[in-house]
Amino acid sequence: MSTSSDTVMQALAYPFDRDLAAMPDGGRILLANALPGAGPWAPARTSVWQWWKGPAAAFEGGGFTLVHGDLTNDAGADEKFNAVLLRLPRQREEAQFVMSSAWQVLAPGGLFMAAAANDAGGARLEKDLKPFLPGLQNASKHKCRIVWARKEAQALPQEWITRGHLQKHGEPGIWTRPGLFSWDRVDVATGLLLPFLPTGLKGAVADLGCGTGVIANHVLKHNPDVALMLCLDADVRAVEACRKNLAERHAGRNIDYHWVDLGQQIPPAQKFPLVDTVIMNPPFHAEKTLAIALGQAFIRNAAAFLKTGGSLWMVANAHLPYEPILQQTFKAVEKVHEGRGFKIIRAVK
Ligand SMILES: C[S@@+](CC[C@H](N)C(=O)[O-])C[C@H]1O[C@@H](n2cnc3c(N)ncnc32)[C@H](O)[C@@H]1O
Repeated sequence: MSTSSDTVMQALAYPFDRDLAAMPDGGRILLANALPGAGPWAPARTSVWQWWKGPAAAFEGGGFTLVHGDLTNDAGADEKFNAVLLRLPRQREEAQFVMSSAWQVLAPGGLFMAAAANDAGGARLEKDLKPFLPGLQNASKHKCRIVWARKEAQALPQEWITRGHLQKHGEPGIWTRPGLFSWDRVDVATGLLLPFLPTGLKGAVADLGCGTGVIANHVLKHNPDVALMLCLDADVRAVEACRKNLAERHAGRNIDYHWVDLGQQIPPAQKFPLVDTVIMNPPFHAEKTLAIALGQAFIRNAAAFLKTGGSLWMVANAHLPYEPILQQTFKAVEKVHEGRGFKIIRAVK
């Protein structure tokens, strides 16, 4: 029985609850992209492969072993697991990357299981896997599809791993990968924000939710006097991509990278220098649900990062009600521009 409030986690526990599948008695379990909650995966025998800081920290606190790099080259992660249980991300190439990577670290005879919400990849799951795993079993529960198979002589495509890896994309070439925000193009809102950003910035600047580093790159390029650039994101894969992009373009500049959950108030123990400017295009979705609270938490954190008199520049969907929290947290708030469904806001602390 899963005690997670997440339906995909509940779906992953379902075949065990109903004796449709059996967890191997011994050996290790790999739980991918999982959210916290009890299930038939005891901490002592389970490694959690999680790239999002919030759930990763929660699992680590619960005694699970954490893996956050790529399985096939992360030290220690290539141990052979006896079961891999995958809560699939919704992006197709990202989900295929997760499945093929997990397959590679599954021991012969081990249990492969994957689940996804029907409207987030579940409906296409069997179609994707059946050509490679003809004996695939399946169940439906909680508006999710669950599939499972034993590892025999079959293989999932290596190409799924190659396609999902960190890669250089487009011209002039940015380091990115499927699953990252707007992974293969500059986001419309970000593109709208960039020309409004000031030049002549000095001191320290923070890019909250930096993604692949589009905003930080723009700031560093147009502001030679910025002395420190802080790049923070909850997705460790984004932090890694951002690091590669900025290192290639801005060698010698002072840039710090942090894997941080900005949906929570930053704990006082985690000391960051106060900054002069914060720039952000905050997330307003978690998975696929609207999460205004996440944007509000970003705004509170932006205020906490800033020196008195420092400025926040942000872009958001025009309909999102961020003004009340901005008015509460900042001394002055100004809408600089509205267009194409977005607003650009400057706020002074
Ligand atoms: C709208 S995207 C903007 C990305 C990038 N700054 C750009 O403009 O292209 C929001 C970013 O916030 C990150 N993010 C989502 N939830 C987060 C959280 N709780 N804490 C920190 N970053 C988060 C996402 O990984 C994503 O990179």
